[in-house]
Amino acid sequence: MNKATNLVWHNYEVNKQKRAAAKKQKPMIIWFTGLSGSGKSTIADALEKKLYADGYHTYLLDGDNIRLGINKNLGFSDADRTENIRRIGEISKLFVDAGIIVITAFISPFQADRDTVRELVGDGEFLEVFVDTPLDVCEERDPKGMYKKARAGIIKQFTGIDSPYEAPKSPELVCKTDQDIVETVQTLVSELSAKGYLD
Ligand code: ADX
Repeated sequence: MNKATNLVWHNYEVNKQKRAAAKKQKPMIIWFTGLSGSGKSTIADALEKKLYADGYHTYLLDGDNIRLGINKNLGFSDADRTENIRRIGEISKLFVDAGIIVITAFISPFQADRDTVRELVGDGEFLEVFVDTPLDVCEERDPKGMYKKARAGIIKQFTGIDSPYEAPKSPELVCKTDQDIVETVQTLVSELSAKGYLD
């Protein structure tokens, strides 16, 4: 919903197609979703390193970093998470417009919010990647000690404990936990190539 009125979208001469052609790549959002501790950031980091090494122009947006900056006024209520993802979607859309391959790592627990981001960009420009690590594995890993605090009631509204996570209904790609990181990235890159997203 726009607060302002009398706004008109302006199309500029140097557009997404031209910028993408200059970069010789297909801009898109590779959207990782999964529980805290599922491995989103680790996989996103490894994938970005591989794409960068192969000459692609990428940018990685990640939960904690965005929440330390542009989204520092948002918490973890359902409404704040929705606003978090809406803003990240708009930011990602600008990067796609700039011709970049965007990699995101956010819990993004709600299907409707992920669908909203999908609708912001063109067909084939949003790839939902489910990091399918079960809650008990994430809780066992507990890299930041947050599950322990959530179980103790010290952290409220923690995803998987007292805040819901909706697994993707039809993700383009799924990462399983039983592979090591090198295999996971290899699988992702070959799937992206097979689907025509990478050369
Ligand atoms: S999202 O639900 O709005 O998509 P986002 O990915 O931005 O979440 O942020 C998740 C990160 O915030 C987690 O990796 C964790 O480090 C931290 N965090 C702090 N409090 C919570 C909470 N209540 N639920 C989930 N993550 C939390």
